[in-house]
Amino acid sequence: MSSKNKSVNLTSDSSSIELDIKEASVGPSVVDLKNLYKETGLFTFDPAYSTTASCVSHVTYIDGDEGILEYRGYPIEQLAAKSTYLEVAYLLFNGELPSVNNLQEFRSQVKANMILPEQTKTLFQGFDESAHPMAMLTTSIASLSSLYHEGIDVKNYKHQKEFFFNVLGKTPILVANIFNHRNHTNMGQYDEDLTYAENILRLFFGGDTNYEINPVFAKALDILLVLHADHEQNCSTSSVRLAGSSGTNPYAAIAAGVAALWGPAHGGANEAVVKMFGEIESKENISKYIAKAKDKNDRFRLMGFGHRVYKNFDPRATIIREECHKVLNALENNNNPMFELAQELEQIALQDEYFIERNLYPNVDFYSGIIYQAMGLPKEMFTVMFALARTVGWATHWCEMMAQPKLKIGRPRQLYLGEERRNYISIDQR
Ligand code: CMC
Repeated sequence: MSSKNKSVNLTSDSSSIELDIKEASVGPSVVDLKNLYKETGLFTFDPAYSTTASCVSHVTYIDGDEGILEYRGYPIEQLAAKSTYLEVAYLLFNGELPSVNNLQEFRSQVKANMILPEQTKTLFQGFDESAHPMAMLTTSIASLSSLYHEGIDVKNYKHQKEFFFNVLGKTPILVANIFNHRNHTNMGQYDEDLTYAENILRLFFGGDTNYEINPVFAKALDILLVLHADHEQNCSTSSVRLAGSSGTNPYAAIAAGVAALWGPAHGGANEAVVKMFGEIESKENISKYIAKAKDKNDRFRLMGFGHRVYKNFDPRATIIREECHKVLNALENNNNPMFELAQELEQIALQDEYFIERNLYPNVDFYSGIIYQAMGLPKEMFTVMFALARTVGWATHWCEMMAQPKLKIGRPRQLYLGEERRNYISIDQR
């Protein structure tokens, strides 16, 4: 690599190319491979995109080796301690922290969109009671594209902004409808005097009973929303960008993100973690499950452990563990065998050579389910809560992509290892 002219030379048997290095403002720079195929006839091979930067972004920065996560340059620890979810949403979208007036205006714009069209409300009646909440969320967000499509110009800033506030306002109402539909309860009423997180609790639990909002739960929920708000080019955000790159309807692009999030390797891990704790059942069984996780012939993995990017610790997990203590202490009966089990499992895994060698640490999903469960949410709702928070990240990335001067369709290539058969054999001769 030549650092003087910031380029690398790539030489194969038949050709050689000088590839420019594009410098990042912070973190690793990238080799620009735009002309590689044209000049050498070669593609790059990076199946899970482990070392591929797919876009330019100004939103979120992660240093996985150091356990750093920043939204628009602000460390997640400071945002979790000092800001609120709506402030963070404003920051992600606008690039700056809001003034009091900015935030009030932003909140009003979100609130103005917290109303569902009649067609969307009736959609929920069509879902089977046993339907998974993530299936309902994917479908109901996609259904918004049936109402908001004609006349949307994805390159028009005004339309992008309308989409942003609409999806931000409608997702909490969709999520609350999903919860209440499964629960056979009515949705609570939004209250202007409550915070965003308090309102989410009110919408979920305040329809039929005199629900008293526990301030510790509301604070913990707000922190969880902040921690999940964005995470740069992860699987779901990349799905939104890839779908969006074709110029598709933005609500359909967000639905692609929700679908990607559902998987247990991504946002679905929070549900899988609690299922796993249920399966392990007691501390006596931990060693058996650690052995299963290490056994390459067994598909079992320690859910809530490991991360593609964080190889030291996940800063979100550290904050969530703390919150977990606070939430459980706020309960009348704070004896939580699941939390005890989780902490013991973490300690044992962190001292095990297998996990040490592979830099496997608890991730954001290891403890979040315990908090949601303490609040009264069933495990099937956990990933929906993740999606509720991440909507702002997806919508921000979609808007960032659309604001680029040129919208270019995403289109990876492949290493073809199939047959090459040039002569078709007609059916009667086979
Ligand atoms: N339990 C046991 N072994 C593991 C685990 C785990 N949770 N995670 C990774 N490994 C092993 C894996 O078998 C491999 O071993 P070897 O080198 O011997 O083949 C090595 O560690 C590297 O794993 P990988 O699968 O190549 O790593 P990846 O970057 O492709 O996967 C991951 C990252 C998060 C999908 C994976 O660690 C995992 O499946 N974890 C459990 C699911 C989970 O908690 N997901 C939530 C991620 S955080 C929420 C979000 O933002 O999405």
